[in-house]
Amino acid sequence: METATVRHKIIVAGIGPGNPDYMVPLASKAIAAAKALVGGKRALAQFAAKASTEQKTMAVTRDIEGVMAFIAQELASHDVVVMVSGDPGYYSLLDALRRNFPVEQIAVIPGISAMQLAFARLALPWHDARLVSFHGRRPADTALRYAPGTVIGMLTDGQYTSKTIPPLLIEQGWPQDAKLHICMRLSYEDEEVRTVSLGEAASLPAYASGILIVEG
Ligand SMILES: C[S@@+](CC[C@H](N)C(=O)[O-])C[C@H]1O[C@@H](n2cnc3c(N)ncnc32)[C@H](O)[C@@H]1O
Repeated sequence: METATVRHKIIVAGIGPGNPDYMVPLASKAIAAAKALVGGKRALAQFAAKASTEQKTMAVTRDIEGVMAFIAQELASHDVVVMVSGDPGYYSLLDALRRNFPVEQIAVIPGISAMQLAFARLALPWHDARLVSFHGRRPADTALRYAPGTVIGMLTDGQYTSKTIPPLLIEQGWPQDAKLHICMRLSYEDEEVRTVSLGEAASLPAYASGILIVEG
């Protein structure tokens, strides 16, 4: 017999890089209609219904088990919309949702990834680019290795930044004069995109939690 929990869906909506102009209309509609809405504190402040008593919200913190329990409980009576930054398929809560719920119960609304927007800002195709994440992790050295013509797109965090990553690339054979594009706060009013050489980056202030693209 089909239970209420199975009938209702978890809608994972990609909200794009930050500015709502970059969110697809399907995601905004799902968020506006949500009876239960999950997301980071900033996303909730921006997109949760302001004067609604009907919409229940849950902020995503380190307590992922608590978030999963909220979702499971709310699914008994309605769909749950989970907002994630960028695209859900690219380093988001989607992995944890798949570990906790049947995949048939999950519907994904794609979003524009910050990585996509960074390549767009540079008018640089990304079909041959190598994409790696330094967000809370360090990619294998082989993923950073230099070969002429290589392009690597990198997510960064507070530890792995525009200052700490260039030496790791130079260790992997990248020339000091390779172009490094630093893409910060993409889509926001204070967005900054600048291009320096790998060698120069070490003498600049650290740019953290943005996108770096290196061109060989
Ligand atoms: C956990 S990952 C999430 C990626 C997200 N799912 C996506 O598709 O963009 C977070 C990282 O994305 C990058 N990021 C997210 N939003 C950004 C923005 N507006 N500008 C630059 N980088 C951003 C930063 O590297 C940040 O540390």
